Amino acid sequence: MNREVIIKNATEKFAALINEQLDRVDRMNETKDFIDYSKLDKLIIGVCGGDGIGPAITHEAHRILEFLLADKVKAGKVEFKVIDGLTIENRVAANKAIPDDVLAELKACHVILKGPTTTPRAGDPWPNIESANVAMRKELDLFANVRPVKVPEQGIDWTFYRENTEGSYAIGSKGIHVNDDLAMDFCVTTTEGTERIARAAFEYAKKAGKTKVTAVTKANVVKTTDGKFLGICKDIAKEYPEIEFDDWYIDIMTAKLVDEKRRTQFQVLVLPNLYGDILTDEAAEFQGGVGTAGSANIGKRYAMFEAIHGSAPRMVAEGRDKYADPCSIIRADVMLLEHIGEVDAAKRLERALDKCMYEEKKLVITGRDTGATGAEFADYIMDTIKADM
Ligand code: IPM
Ligand code: MG
Repeated sequence: MNREVIIKNATEKFAALINEQLDRVDRMNETKDFIDYSKLDKLIIGVCGGDGIGPAITHEAHRILEFLLADKVKAGKVEFKVIDGLTIENRVAANKAIPDDVLAELKACHVILKGPTTTPRAGDPWPNIESANVAMRKELDLFANVRPVKVPEQGIDWTFYRENTEGSYAIGSKGIHVNDDLAMDFCVTTTEGTERIARAAFEYAKKAGKTKVTAVTKANVVKTTDGKFLGICKDIAKEYPEIEFDDWYIDIMTAKLVDEKRRTQFQVLVLPNLYGDILTDEAAEFQGGVGTAGSANIGKRYAMFEAIHGSAPRMVAEGRDKYADPCSIIRADVMLLEHIGEVDAAKRLERALDKCMYEEKKLVITGRDTGATGAEFADYIMDTIKADM
C-alpha cells in the first residue's frame, strides 16, 4: 500500500476517535451535580457476581449487606437486585464487553457491588473483547477509582484517587494498526475529566482531615496529556490553600513507596489511570496483597464497588470456589455503606473485618479445604458484629 493510502486510512480512524472523545466531553459537561441518595424514595443496590470465584464471594458480601441493611430493606428504603448475566460466556456470545440487557439492569440501579470479571487477553480461548470492568467504568462514567491502603503499624495511611475513565484506558481497545510495521495507542486528558478527579481528591482530603494531596504523573516526558493533568491539579490546589500540594513523577514515586521513612508522608494521591492501576497494586502489597483491598468506582450518578483481585478461574476448575477469600469484596461492602451514608454500619463491618482477619483469627482462609469456606468466614464476621452490638 502506498504511503498516502496508509495515512488516509489511519487518519479516518483517528478522526472517528476524536469524534467519540469530543462527544464524551459534551456528556461530561452536561452532568455537573452528584446524585443525593438521601432524596431517593428507594435506593437500589445491584449485586453482580461476575466470573470465576466472583459469584461465590459476591454472594457472601451480599449476605452481609442484607444483614446490615435489614431494617432499611423492611422499610422499603433499600432494595437489592441480583444481576446474573455478566459472565465471560454471555459477553462472548453477545460479542460485547457488557451485554445490552445486563447494561440496562446495571443502569436501573444506583450503586453496584461487583465481583471480579475475566478480562480476555491475547492467547486466551476468548475473543479479545474489552474488559467488562473498564467498559462499566466508562458506561456509567465512574471517574474516580478510590483505593485506600492502610498498614497502621507502619504508619501507612494512603488514599489513592485514580482517574478511571481517561488516560491510556480511554481508547485502550481501539488503538490503530497503521500497517504491519506500526501500531499506535492514544492517551487522553480532558479538562473536565481532570478537574473532577482533582476536586474529588481535595474534597476527600478536606472532609477526612488530611493535610496533603500529591499528584503523580510523568509530565516531564508525557508532556501534553500528563502535563495537562498536572497543570489542572495545580490550579485546583489553589482552591484549597489549607491543604499542602506536591507532585512526583511515577518512577520515583514507585521507589518512594518502599522508602520506609518517606512513604509515611503521603496521604492522598491523585493520578492518571494507568499509573493509578500500577501504583495501587504495589501499595496494596504492603497491606497483604491485592486480595485485601477494596475499590470504589465513583461517578456523579452511579457508583460501583469491587474487589481488586481477579476471577481465579483455576479455583473454580478445581472445585475450590467455596474456599475463595471474600474479604476483598467485603472491604468493598464497607466502602459501599460509607458511600450511601450508612457510616455506622460501615464502621461496624470494618471493625469486625479487622478483628476476624488480623486480630482474633478464629477462622483462617487458605483457599483450600484446609481452611474455612467463604460462607463460614462471612458468618464469623456477622457473629462478630452481633457480639459487638
Ligand atoms: C484494576 C484491574 C483492571 C484495570 C483490569 C482487570 C482491566 O487491574 O481494577 O486495577 O486495569 O483497571
Ligand atoms: Mg489493576
